Amino acid sequence: MMVKLWRCMICGDAYIGEDIPTNCPFCGAHQAFFKEAKDAVVTFDVSLTDKDRANAEHAIEVEVSNATFYFCAAEKTDDAEGKMLFKALGKIEAEHAAIWRKVLRLDKAPAGNETCHVQNVNNLNESHERETKAIAFYKKAAEESDHDRLKQIFKALVEVETDHLHLSEARLK
Ligand SMILES: [Fe+2]
Ligand SMILES: [Fe+2]
Repeated sequence: MMVKLWRCMICGDAYIGEDIPTNCPFCGAHQAFFKEAKDAVVTFDVSLTDKDRANAEHAIEVEVSNATFYFCAAEKTDDAEGKMLFKALGKIEAEHAAIWRKVLRLDKAPAGNETCHVQNVNNLNESHERETKAIAFYKKAAEESDHDRLKQIFKALVEVETDHLHLSEARLK
């Protein structure tokens, strides 16, 4: 067995393993965004137009809000599998917030303040609503940006949030 060091081009974090993971364990980006770490150039140093800045500022708000909701749900939801699901989602949304924190050059992400539910089905419904909104927002932001790197991040996050939508859909059937 030969392990290698891989790097996700979306969040910039490195992963140790024999093969590229199907999804980044940190930000959920799809495997097409992985390169061997030694060959990967990842930057968050982008010059922002007013529109891109407004979208990045909205993005960090969305991600902090969703991370806070998911961590709340991981604590409160009345289903053992639901707790694991919401914790995993919370970690990924917190990583998304970190991407936007770097793009916006902030020292810290803003604090979130969200409530959640005890009944698992209510948390799944709220997850579905939040992910639907995030997908629509990231699609629009990708179209509005002329910056290759920002477009890449916005589009990659459309895919990740769509995966999240599928997780709640499978459980709400
Ligand atoms: Fe996200
Ligand atoms: Fe999500």
